Amino acid sequence: MKAIYPGSFDPATYGHLDIIERAAEKMDHLIVAVLDNPSKNSLFSINERIGLLKEVTKHLSNVEIDYFSGLLSDYASRRECYNMVRGLRAVSDFEYEMQMALVNRSLNPKIETFFMASDNKYAYLSSSIVKEIAKFGGSITHFVPKAVENALKEKYEGRK
Ligand code: PNS
Repeated sequence: MKAIYPGSFDPATYGHLDIIERAAEKMDHLIVAVLDNPSKNSLFSINERIGLLKEVTKHLSNVEIDYFSGLLSDYASRRECYNMVRGLRAVSDFEYEMQMALVNRSLNPKIETFFMASDNKYAYLSSSIVKEIAKFGGSITHFVPKAVENALKEKYEGRK
């Protein structure tokens, strides 16, 4: 089975990587699709986010890193892949995720969304939290892979 794991990945965390590794074990091919949305105020450019994801998934031979803009349902049609993977952390994720899954299926009834429970260790983790900690000089070693940690340090140190 082939699936798409869509997201902003600004930047990828160990929480994302955990979902990617576990999904890749179940799927023949996993496309990690990064949303390119210029109107969203992303810290990392689309190329930076793709580069970091490629770096942290290089040990996974059935994982492809790609990007899309516009509707996910249109991207699914272009890629002829209608299985979506999304991670669920706390109950607070549920409403938004359910809404997205239902909207995507109403846009294209072929689309199914498969939810994966996040690892306990990462249930509180998000890209926003990691960026906030990094911005104020806190340690993010346990939250993101080394390549992402270095990229975050560079971003915030470069801004000082
Ligand atoms: O990691 P995120 O930011 O929670 O990912 C959200 C994402 C990128 C999966 C979602 O915003 C998305 O698919 N955007 C594309 C626009 C779209 O298709 N919208 C309709 C479904 S909500």
